[in-house]
Amino acid sequence: MRGWQLHNYGDELQLSDKVKIPQIRNSQDCLVKVRTTSVNPIDVAMARGYGATVLNKLRCQPGDGIEFPLTLGREFCGELVQKGMGVTSKDLKQGTRVWGVVPLQSPYGAHAEYVSVPASCLAPAPAELDDSEAASVLYAGLTAWSGLYITGGLGGLCGATTSSGGGSQKRILVLGGSGGVGSLAIQILKSQGAQVLATCSENAIELVRCLGADFVVDYSNPVAMEELCNFAPFDIVLDCAGQGGQHAAELKFDYRQYITFSSPLLANIDRNGLGFGALQNLSDLVRTNVKSLTQRGGLVKWGFFSPAPHGIQFLQNLVQKRKLLPLIDTSFEFSEMPKAFERMQNGHLRGKIVIKL
Ligand SMILES: NC(=O)c1ccc[n+]([C@@H]2O[C@H](COP(=O)([O-])OP(=O)(O)OC[C@H]3O[C@@H](n4cnc5c(N)ncnc54)[C@H](OP(=O)(O)O)[C@@H]3O)[C@@H](O)[C@H]2O)c1
Repeated sequence: MRGWQLHNYGDELQLSDKVKIPQIRNSQDCLVKVRTTSVNPIDVAMARGYGATVLNKLRCQPGDGIEFPLTLGREFCGELVQKGMGVTSKDLKQGTRVWGVVPLQSPYGAHAEYVSVPASCLAPAPAELDDSEAASVLYAGLTAWSGLYITGGLGGLCGATTSSGGGSQKRILVLGGSGGVGSLAIQILKSQGAQVLATCSENAIELVRCLGADFVVDYSNPVAMEELCNFAPFDIVLDCAGQGGQHAAELKFDYRQYITFSSPLLANIDRNGLGFGALQNLSDLVRTNVKSLTQRGGLVKWGFFSPAPHGIQFLQNLVQKRKLLPLIDTSFEFSEMPKAFERMQNGHLRGKIVIKL
């Protein structure tokens, strides 16, 4: 099959037409013919070696201890072509149009004609979305969902363990409302009856308002940022703008939780190894929390993408009720993958980067 491969960190991606089609090795796996996929910040980071120490450890099952060639791509929409004997769901038949995500440790990503993932990582794609839209929801959407409901406990125990959501009457500030994660987080929160405030660049304010945010400010305007103090304390400040935990104590207003998707967890382990890296993580978390609790009265937590089936179900329900629609920044052909990576690296995204096969 055709697939984009990385042969060393920092190298150019190579397109090959001799990539082996991934095998179904587990009775729970499904093989999907990819129609559309996307590029996320994690693809650009992984191409440079981000997370390699932990991800290689997770990859090292017997017979699976390979690092290169690595195929990136964490989400897709396509057609189910084969399934393992243990996949019993009646919804997943050969020929079903599916959407899904690829776990981070899998070396066989979706930037190829076929991808193999556990059945729990995919579901029938909602008819409400075309193929490009269906490849633009799950990675960022499951990140936003997991940050809010697993890390943030916004819907209590039910919100974290089922697709029930929750969060009505809560007040949330989304930092970076115009990006892939932020634009979905706003729509998720509005669908649950939360009050949503957001920050973004000035030229994205109208767009972020259209997503449903109740109050939007330009993050580069200090006077506008001061206005956020009138709404404090926030139940959650959700950092979808790559600010990190150290930014929490610098904010001028109080919050109960500051949840960032830019944790130093994998980078610390890449730099210092598993043992010292884990200690560094603990020290970073304690340090940012002491500062944040004393200066702003709230906790700093790290949020992560989680490929949870009930998270997929939650997002699917919202799409079907037409409460969630992804923004697409740019579409590229499969042969233009390096251009898509360049677009991601240039930043200022207004939604997702889609690749059509
Ligand atoms: N931990 C995880 O598992 C996980 C999973 C997914 C994503 N992430 C991280 O989460 C972040 C968001 O991901 P994404 O896919 O949404 O990225 P993205 O599409 O590149 O969006 C980032 C957005 O943030 C805006 N922005 C940049 N600086 C800002 C600031 N100071 N204040 C407010 N907005 C700002 C950008 O707009 P302008 O360019 O106009 O400023 C852009 O729209 C990234 O850092 C990513 O690495 C982590």
